[in-house]
Formats: sequence, structure tokens, C-alpha cells
Amino acid sequence: YSTRTQDSSSPFRSASPSPQVIMKGIKSIVITIAMEGEAMPLITKLGLTQQSNYFGHAAPFHCFTGTYNNYNLAIVTNGKDRKFGCDNVGTVPAALATYLAVEQLKPDLLINAGTAGGFESKGMAIGDVLISSTIHNHDRRMLLPIFVDYGVHNHKAVETPRLREALKFKLGVVSTGNSLDHVEADDALMAANDASVKDMEAAAVAWAAELYSVPYFALKVVTDIVDGAHATEEEFVANFAMAQRRLQEAVPATLDHVLGRSLEEL
Ligand code: ADE
Repeated sequence: YSTRTQDSSSPFRSASPSPQVIMKGIKSIVITIAMEGEAMPLITKLGLTQQSNYFGHAAPFHCFTGTYNNYNLAIVTNGKDRKFGCDNVGTVPAALATYLAVEQLKPDLLINAGTAGGFESKGMAIGDVLISSTIHNHDRRMLLPIFVDYGVHNHKAVETPRLREALKFKLGVVSTGNSLDHVEADDALMAANDASVKDMEAAAVAWAAELYSVPYFALKVVTDIVDGAHATEEEFVANFAMAQRRLQEAVPATLDHVLGRSLEEL
């Protein structure tokens, strides 16, 4: 980690990457995934171990750590809502979980992985994997000077031309809002944002990562078509198992490409 003094409780402490990558290579990654169902098959596949109460007793978030090819890896999930028992989706839990994760783990790179709705008009199809170019919001409307731009924001993700070429992932804008559905005002802003996909966390994750100057990108699997004929909820449920499988392939392939390389080489 670049700046933080490591304490003995850090699960990232013990791994030791080879000497030639210490100066410039990415040697630690945190992956934030909002939904447990998206994350668990991947956590099992990667053999990560859950750290109990890692973020303090009041935080609902979970931290799973381990090594991947001798590099440090953690997956952070947002846990369940205490009252409703469902996953803590949306921007509020995502920002808080990401803030705590980057504060404690100080990764070289942060990846926000999960599912998204894709725009057919932007060439997206169900099952596609997209890596973010920029990340914006579409449900923060304030017609006041400065606040207009602040609301939409413009989070710049790490550039990944070689990663995308090697793994045949698409590139596009991720637009974040707190609803699975979308109203006309959202549509107008998503169009203005040139969104390829629509999700519920990426902009919040980006905002929190930027507070600690941790570079990031979003990796999203398309489960439903936003500008298509079918109801989002039905498509999302029908394609969720497919998305789990895609994440189990796409995330390790991404780690293989990224770990040990510098940001400029991605
Ligand atoms: N995650 C999966 N599909 C989505 C959609 N249509 N909108 C927001 N988040 C999503």
C-alpha cells in the first residue's frame, strides 16, 4: 500500500509479491460487489476467507481476503439490510463500504463488479462484460450553478485498452442511479451521459475511491436490456445465474491480466 502504515491486523500484510513488481506493479486489489448472490460463487472459487467484524460491529459489510497468485485480494460485499433482509444495494451502502475498505486496505486498484442493465442502442447485449470509461449519475438533478455538474459528476476510471482487447470486454459509460427502473428524467440524463449501461453503485464507489486517490474501474455483466421490450425485473431474475457464471470467468481473467502490471500497462 502506498501511504498507510500497516497494522498487524491487516489481512493484506502477509503476501509478498516478487521484487520486480514492488516498484510499479499492482499488487493488491479490492473488489466491491453489492449483492451476496453475485459475490459468493466468486469468493468460493477464489478460496477467500471471511474476516469477522472487519469493519466494526455496527457495519453490515463483509470482507473476504486471501491471495491470488501471491498477490493480495479482498472482496467486500455490502451485507444485508437488518430490517428487510435483502442485500444493501444502491449508492449509500456502496459509498460507505468502499470508504471503509479503501481506508483499511489501501489497495493499488479497486474494481466495482456486478450486474447492470445494458442499452441495446449502444450495442449492449445480455451477457456482455463492460469496463467503465467514465462513470456518472442520472438521478441527482439540481438546476443550480455548479450543482448541475456535481450531480451528474464525471468519474474517470483507469484506462484499460489492453485488458479489454485481451478479454474481449466492451468499453462504455456507466450511469448510476438508486432505482432499478427509470423515469423519463433518468432517460434524458442517461442519454446525455452517453450511457452504455445503468447500475446502482459505480458512481458511489468511484466517489469514495477518489477520496483516497485509489484508481478504479467498474466491471459489469449485462443482465437486462434497458431500452428493450421486456420488464427489467423479469430479465434480471432470468439472467442472474448467467451473470454469476460470467463474473466467475471474467473476474479471475481480469486479475490474471492486471496483477503485477502497472496502471499504464492496463
Ligand atoms: N443491475 C442489473 N440491471 C440493472 C438495471 N436495469 N438498473 C440498475 N441496476 C441494474
